[in-house]
Amino acid sequence: MLLHVPQVFTRDEVRRIRQALEEADWQDGRITAGYQSAQTKHNLQLAEDDPLAREISEAMLARLWQHPLFMSAALPHKVFPPLFNCYTAGGHFGFHVDNAVRQVRNSAERVRTDLSSTLFFSDPDEYDGGELVIEDTYGSQRIKLPAGDLVLYPSTSIHKVEPVTRGARFASFFWTQSLVREDAQRALLFEMDQAIQSLTRDVPDHPALVRLTGNYPSLLRRWVAV
Ligand code: NI
Repeated sequence: MLLHVPQVFTRDEVRRIRQALEEADWQDGRITAGYQSAQTKHNLQLAEDDPLAREISEAMLARLWQHPLFMSAALPHKVFPPLFNCYTAGGHFGFHVDNAVRQVRNSAERVRTDLSSTLFFSDPDEYDGGELVIEDTYGSQRIKLPAGDLVLYPSTSIHKVEPVTRGARFASFFWTQSLVREDAQRALLFEMDQAIQSLTRDVPDHPALVRLTGNYPSLLRRWVAV
């Protein structure tokens, strides 16, 4: 399941984060690439222990943990600390699949990558190219979202970032280990949660709603695997 989560940050917040990112200490993006993806990765990245990266990523995760759409779709157990990248001057990242497990720097913690997320910090009209292309069950999706918006997709998807031929594309990306490992089960729970929420709005007194609502935690309990 591929999901667009709008307005994780407001326009004003995005503007302030962007200003800070433009003056950040950018390094070669191959620092976090595996052997194979290092061959096709051409971008800039902030170091994992960069203080600015840590500050923004904490704000991002705090925001996402309160975001009903993200929580319902991702059912997060834990997250690999968000990384930040910048594509400019032809920068791109060829087709690849993300590593299955990531080791958190200076920690024994490991995160299974069930879901990948990209949060855009540049608006589509600020750069040419730079689409995130995701090979989905339903074909190829070309993603280029407003600054402040996030796309969530299964980490098993093959994906790439097209060359940026004008301007700069700032973004953050991170991986989530979900409480529910299988994408199909997670998608079903998400659909059910969304349906329950709309029935709760439209027919709050219907007696069947209590039974239906009760099925959600029963299914979740059955499928939680961390
Ligand atoms: Ni990737």
